[in-house]
Parts: sequence; structure tokens; C-alpha cells
Amino acid sequence: MALIAPSILNSDFLKLGETIQMINESEADWIHLDVMDGSFVPNISFGIPIVEAAKKTTKKPLDVHLMIVHPEKYIEGFRKAGADIINVHFEACKDKNLIAILNEIRASGAKPAIAINPDTRINKIFDLAEYVDMILVMSVFPGFGGQKFIEATYDRVQELKQFLTHNKLDTLIQVDGGVSADNAAKLSNCGVDVMVAGSVIFNAENPLKSIAELKSKTQ
Ligand code: DX5
Ligand code: ZN
Repeated sequence: MALIAPSILNSDFLKLGETIQMINESEADWIHLDVMDGSFVPNISFGIPIVEAAKKTTKKPLDVHLMIVHPEKYIEGFRKAGADIINVHFEACKDKNLIAILNEIRASGAKPAIAINPDTRINKIFDLAEYVDMILVMSVFPGFGGQKFIEATYDRVQELKQFLTHNKLDTLIQVDGGVSADNAAKLSNCGVDVMVAGSVIFNAENPLKSIAELKSKTQ
């Protein structure tokens, strides 16, 4: 069974408490929080105060996806706010000491993860797999919820899965963007361990049922 991490990005922020409560009562495993700075991606979402608020009302692990140009500046802040997983983008850290950033995340007490955009060759992050608990293979270009799933993701996940298996690494594989009940089973078969889903859950008439349906589609 894959883990399901609902992204609250496209939920009604006026009802954040109810949303977190719904996720608490659902079969979801984590809560995915999309932090955007308007520079790394062409959209601004929310930051540390929302992570803090979510932490107060849930025991589910908080998976914080940092789509920001200087993630290294905010590791302590997000960790203190309650992030359990801190996910930084490979593309935001290309000219930095990425291994030091990942080690700093681990030293803070959070689990380090790295995200990779759809147009970056997947083998670019192979060398980093041993430093992270999870690799996020983006299945849309980051910035917005509700985008169409990029089909090339299946091959990228399989290539990564082969590398991890061959090197006996138990690094989790996550996908984010355009995940739905239509592609969850295939993604799971390709080796995806964690699925992020936003609009499919929050546009559904019954979000609880939508989460359960996604979960049931995975192995
Ligand atoms: C995109 C975000 C995703 C997004 C997922 O930049 O990282 O987490 O909110 O939303 P859907 O499932 O609607 O693609
Ligand atoms: Zn995300």
C-alpha cells in the first residue's frame, strides 16, 4: 500500500481547521504542505505560520515541500513550526552544497527529501539518494494545483526505482501533481511509495471517500 499525502494547496483556507480534521479522520498518511515564494515558481502560497497552525491540530506527519529559491535559510524555521519531512528542490540548490543542506535537515530532526522537476534528468539526483529518506519525482511543473499529469513520469519513476533497487537503497519515491484514481494503480506498480494529491481530493464531493479510493488503488 502506498502512502497518501493530501496537499491542502487547493483547499478552502477559510476552513483550514476543518480540512485538517477531515484529513485526521481519513485514511491519509501524511499532510503535504506546498510552500511557494513567487521566485522559484510563479506563484505564492503560504509559509511557516500555516505549518505551525496545521501542527497544532494533527498528529499526521507534515510533509513540507519547499518551492523556494533559498530553502537552506528556512530549515530551522520550518522544523520548529513542526515539519516532519523537509523537501528541497534539486534545481534550487544546484550551485549550493546540497549534501550539507540535506545533512542540516537531518540534524534538525526532520527527514530530508529532494524534489526534481519534470525537465531535469532523473540520473542527476542518483548520487544524492543515500542522503535522503525520499525523492519526489514531480509529475507536473511546480507552481499550481490542478495540472495535467505528465505521462513521462512513469519511465522516470521506473528508472529511479531500478537504481535504488540495484544499490539496495530503501529511499522512498514520491510523486506530486495530477495524481488521481486513474493513475494511482499504475504509479504504484512502477514503484511509487508516496502519492501527493490535491485537486482530486478537494474538488470531490466527498474528500474522505476520494482519499480512501486513492489508497485502495495502490498495492
Ligand atoms: C504543485 C504542488 C502540488 C499540487 C498537487 O506545485 O507541489 O502538491 O498542489 O495538486 P494536484 O493534485 O491538484 O496536482
Ligand atoms: Zn507539492
